[in-house]
Amino acid sequence: MKIIVTGGAGFIGSHIVDRYIELGHDVLVVDNLATGDTANLNPAARFVEMDVRDPNLADLIEYERPEVINHHAAQTLVRISTERPQFDADVNVLGLINLLEAAKEAGVRKIIFASSGGTVYGLCDRLPITEEQPFAPQSPYGISKVTSEFYLRYYAANWGLKYTSLRYANIFGPRDTVSSEHVITVFATKLLRGERPVIHWDGEQAKDYLYVDDVVEANVLALTQGDNEAYNLGSGKAISVNSIYRSLLNVLGLDIEPRYGPKRLGDVRLFYLDSRKAQRELGWRPHTDFVQGLSQTVAWYRAQLAPSLPLPR
Ligand SMILES: NC(=O)c1ccc[n+]([C@@H]2O[C@H](COP(=O)([O-])OP(=O)(O)OC[C@H]3O[C@@H](n4cnc5c(N)ncnc54)[C@H](O)[C@@H]3O)[C@@H](O)[C@H]2O)c1
Repeated sequence: MKIIVTGGAGFIGSHIVDRYIELGHDVLVVDNLATGDTANLNPAARFVEMDVRDPNLADLIEYERPEVINHHAAQTLVRISTERPQFDADVNVLGLINLLEAAKEAGVRKIIFASSGGTVYGLCDRLPITEEQPFAPQSPYGISKVTSEFYLRYYAANWGLKYTSLRYANIFGPRDTVSSEHVITVFATKLLRGERPVIHWDGEQAKDYLYVDDVVEANVLALTQGDNEAYNLGSGKAISVNSIYRSLLNVLGLDIEPRYGPKRLGDVRLFYLDSRKAQRELGWRPHTDFVQGLSQTVAWYRAQLAPSLPLPR
């Protein structure tokens, strides 16, 4: 199958590209390298450095005529979205519309969209969160993901362009960058540098963490299934920040006391997703054990940051 992966030089997108290539698909990566890295690019994938907002995207898609576009390019930080809401909407909403218009004209069959289970539902008391939970985003980033999902519905209903929205929990794994501000990445890199990480609040706040390989598998299944549906993708359980910290010390064979800092704006006490719809309809379920995923992630950071250190136990 011919597939364009936007954001394919980034963390999650590049893993999806690797798997699509492994399965024999013809993959073109479109990425402006805002946060992505050419080091993540699969050598068997073709690459065009382009912004998804670029008017020339239409010519590229018309020329390529892919069957599926997997859309992972985005402004991904909640903090940036609150500081620069126009920029967030520009990349995440106008970029998507630019892509959808081009896809419509070129007769693309389907869009797979990286949505965010952690932000589209906002604060909710009923856990785990199912897809029936109403949207209540609390940040411009969450609003941009919700808006994107509505645009996908519009193009499906009116132009026959199919979609699958995958609402991710917190994804972790090799190639995530420190600037993503994800807790596992920040802690692992700080510990490897011999620094003492700061745990905000009391560390008992807990969220749903999913290993990147599991998310990749959902992106494979969505190539042929789940048309015009949205799916939560999570591990189904919440892991506290303190517990992540302890697991990291264990994996690294270290004994370093964390520092505790104040609660940050928007920090959530408890969050985890119900992914039974994806299990029922796509046959998807997470396979990677949390600590096993953590070990693989740490091994990658170690190779990047401190190749001379001994391997984790
Ligand atoms: N990482 C998570 O936990 C998580 C959770 C929910 C949703 N998501 C979504 O998954 C997708 C991938 O996130 P990630 O964590 O891999 O982040 P990432 O920053 O590693 O990947 C984003 C990629 O998009 C590219 N990009 C950014 N702006 C672009 C633009 N205007 N034009 C073209 N390319 C552009 C970047 O260069 C990068 O390669 C995003 O849509 C994000 O919102 C991620």
